[in-house]
Amino acid sequence: MSCLSLDFSNLFIDENSLDALQPSIETCHDMLERGNGPGSDFLGWRNLPAAITESHLIEIEGVAQSLCDQCEIFIVIGIGGSYLGAQAGLNFLNATFRNQFGKGGRPEIYFAGHNISSDYHADLFDLIAGRDVCLNVISKSGTTTESAIAFRLLKEQIEKKYGLEGAKDRIVVTTDASKGALNQLAKEQGYRKFVIPDDVGGRYSVLTPVGLLPMAVAGVDIGKLIEGASRGQELYSHPSTKKNDAYRYAGVRHLLYSKEKTTEILATFQPAFHYFAEWWKQLAGESEGKDLKGIFPASVEFTSDLHSMGQWIQEGKRNIFETFLLIEKSNRQLKIPTFQNDADGLNYLAGKTLDYVNNKAYQGTALAHTEGDVPNLSITVKDRSPESLGQMFYFFERAVAMTGYLNGVNPFDQPGVEFYKKNMFKLLNKPGF
Ligand code: PA5
Repeated sequence: MSCLSLDFSNLFIDENSLDALQPSIETCHDMLERGNGPGSDFLGWRNLPAAITESHLIEIEGVAQSLCDQCEIFIVIGIGGSYLGAQAGLNFLNATFRNQFGKGGRPEIYFAGHNISSDYHADLFDLIAGRDVCLNVISKSGTTTESAIAFRLLKEQIEKKYGLEGAKDRIVVTTDASKGALNQLAKEQGYRKFVIPDDVGGRYSVLTPVGLLPMAVAGVDIGKLIEGASRGQELYSHPSTKKNDAYRYAGVRHLLYSKEKTTEILATFQPAFHYFAEWWKQLAGESEGKDLKGIFPASVEFTSDLHSMGQWIQEGKRNIFETFLLIEKSNRQLKIPTFQNDADGLNYLAGKTLDYVNNKAYQGTALAHTEGDVPNLSITVKDRSPESLGQMFYFFERAVAMTGYLNGVNPFDQPGVEFYKKNMFKLLNKPGF
């Protein structure tokens, strides 16, 4: 059974146009399956769910448990694909204010290395003062400046506190099997290490130890997450848009893009999707935006953003389409109470659940945006379970890879991100620049 259901009824796209795209989808499917398209060295993500072994999961869970035994605070250091999957997973699966109350013997989890903000890191030092800390530094290349700086800062802190030997046991490295400065450091210092497979790029790495270790530390059942992803692999590896919703979504995105709908807005009605949307933007943005082409991926969080970006979406430039990402049922149900004097005029909603009201807000929004000439579709996930999350990760990876190929770009490289780095290194007088 699929954990995701899709509704394409507000798209202004007829079935015939999707049918006409089927031959191109099959060509791109072949490129993905046979590895004869651009970026074919980075297709390992396709088979990760099926390929992951029980013993690998047990190893990750074992290290996660030892980290839980050692620390009150666990800091994940990484940027881009090296942290967003884990953060998306924690945000989606955990209680909203997890770090602020009981976590069943598990550490609070924070992220670093995704910015170069002095205040962010200084505030983090204040937060960890006097508490037991462990670090997971994640970098495929092992040379990324932002994460290297954060690691250096935090390493110094914990080495001061625990000494070199003590600190060594509190650091876990996730990086390339044999290359990069981080790999070298791990070898020299004897840190525990997990490997990111050569054929898996950063933004497609959530189902490797990059995403799995931090989620296991948080208590996520990573076996169930992989089960869901495996289901995704089964469901979304079929070449036909009639049988494969990920390709159907990719096809629709491609058709809308060719009608000058150049921005896709991922619209959610749950804060639990906040970082999933960030993960999706990174996946889609880095994979598709190149060669002067690509859908610009944006996100909004309703109903909050209906009071800001909602105006733009309703009446701004008509170059957008909207993908609603919804949850069928919240983890917990709250009902609106009855007030005797009804001073706030809300008694008409008394006894109704927040899910009920939120769903009406979604229906009202979809209708308004349809009337406002914004093509929109919805993707509804059954619940906030690891299985559903695993399937969602795989769904979007397949869809984005397919859209990239349909649009004639290599969805697995990111040459554009080197430009700022070159300038920054030159300005910093980095040797060799
Ligand atoms: O998707 C990607 O490849 C990037 O977003 C990388 O994940 C990001 O730049 C971090 O790279 P690294 O893991 O090498 O530090």
